[in-house]
This record gives sequence, C-alpha cells and structure tokens, in this order.
Amino acid sequence: MTISRFITCVAALCCVFAASLRPASAQQPPPCQYYQVNAPSLNVFSQPRADSSFVAALGKNDFICVVGEQAVQGDRTWVHITAKLAPQSQRTAMDGWAIKSGLQPAAQADIAALTSAPPAAAPKLPSAPAASNVAAPPVASGAQAPALGQGVVTFTGKITEGPTPVNGASLEQLINGVPEFPPIEGLPDAVWKKTCNNCHQWNQQSLCVQAKLYAKDPKMTMRIQHPYGGPEKIAMMKWAQGGCR
Ligand code: HEC
Repeated sequence: MTISRFITCVAALCCVFAASLRPASAQQPPPCQYYQVNAPSLNVFSQPRADSSFVAALGKNDFICVVGEQAVQGDRTWVHITAKLAPQSQRTAMDGWAIKSGLQPAAQADIAALTSAPPAAAPKLPSAPAASNVAAPPVASGAQAPALGQGVVTFTGKITEGPTPVNGASLEQLINGVPEFPPIEGLPDAVWKKTCNNCHQWNQQSLCVQAKLYAKDPKMTMRIQHPYGGPEKIAMMKWAQGGCR
C-alpha cells in the first residue's frame, strides 16, 4: 500500500516535472549548424524528397542554418534548413530540405562573421522594398549597379522583350501560367505541362530569391530552359537588380 502510494507519488511528480520542462525547451529554437553551399546551386524542397514542392534555390557559397538531418532510405542524407544567413546575424527565414552532399560545414571565421552583432545604425525591420538587402550584405551590393531606365522590370509590369508568352506578360502572370520547357529533359508532357503551383509555390517573395541568383551569377540564367527559356530569366535578373519591385 505505502509502496504503491509512493510510486504513484513519484509518477505524479515526474509528470509535473516533465510538463514544466517541456514548454521551456519547446520555445527555444534548435541551434543552427552552419553550412555553406559548395555545389553551383542547390534546390530546397518542402520535404526530404526531390519530388516534393520546390521551395527555393540556393547559390554557391550561400550560408544556411541547418537544424537537423534525415538519412532517406535508398536516397541520400537530407538536411532541414530554417534560414539563409548573411553576415551580422542577417537571416532570411526558409523552411525546407536539401541534399547534404551539396554542402560543407562553414569555416570558423565565416561563422564568426555570420553571428556577429547587427550594425546598430541599420534599420531593424526591413519593409518590403528593403527586403532585398536582407540576403546581400551592404558590402557586396557595390558589385551590381541597378539596371534602371528603360529596361526596368516590375512584378506586375509587362515584359517588353523576348518572344511570347514572355513578351507582353508580367512576371505575376507568368508564374500562374504553364511552362514552355520541362524542368527535366525527357519528362512526358502530361507530367509538366501544367500550372506552376502543381510543383512550386511562387509569389513575389520566393520568385525574388530565385531572381537574385540570376543577378548574382548571370550564368545561372542559362543552366536550364525551364520554365520559359532565357528571356524570362533575363527579365527576372533585371527585376532583382532593381530590387524586386
Ligand atoms: C512538373 C513540376 C513543375 C512544374 C509544373 C513547374 N516546375 Fe519549375 N521546376 C521544377 C523542378 C523539378 C525544378 C528544378 C529543376 C532543376 O533544378 O534542374 C524547377 C525549377 C524551376 C526554376 C529554377 C530554374 C533555374 O534557373 O534553376 C524556376 C524559375 C521555375 N522552376 C519556375 C517555374 C514556373 C514559373 C512554372 C510555371 C510556369 C514552373 N516552374 C512549373 C518543377 C516544375
């Protein structure tokens, strides 16, 4: 009798103790493992599977926060990414998975730069147009002079170059259309001739992430024809250079 009372008591105490611990540990985000992309580009997907929806593409040398990994049977090891990182604690949140073989652990000096305190004078909360500064630290921005003037591309403005359907449509319209070229050579038409949202979640923000890859490395515009060939990617590149407005 007394022993069972004791056990009940201990069990109850344990529960209280466990319950009091759980919320505290759940609130703390898991710590980042810092990785750098060492492949020319790395696609991020919503699940640890290449046939899940495409979330974003990372470029070579991008830094990311990894919070876990999963060895997929019959496939490779995938890592769970929660943010793209830039020096001085700038982070662009992202929730997705990528294959680990495209990554290398970040160097100690890079981690120090990534986790250094944000500059005191910098505006804290970037508003929509300033969001383009989040991914690129101010030091790097001198590299690309914004292509302003007649070639300006906006999200909702009509593109005036290239063949149809790119010419005469806006980026906003194109991401609600059907691709002209398959994402992977040789896919049967029935698999890919459908609207983008079957495979992607494009919006102004996610498209800007992709467009910035082109602005950073114009060669990337020629990697694959999908979705609409070169002219759309050139338009996206100009759009990113102008700040994704
Ligand atoms: C059948 C699924 C599917 C559909 C439909 C689809 N995509 Fe894709 N898309 C993919 C896959 C898979 C990749 C990755 C291919 C790769 O990296 O080689 C991709 C990659 C891309 C990329 C990155 C290309 C690059 O330069 O690396 C863009 C931009 C893109 N898609 C836009 C679109 C748009 C816009 C549409 C609609 C008009 C669309 N996609 C429709 C599956 C699809």
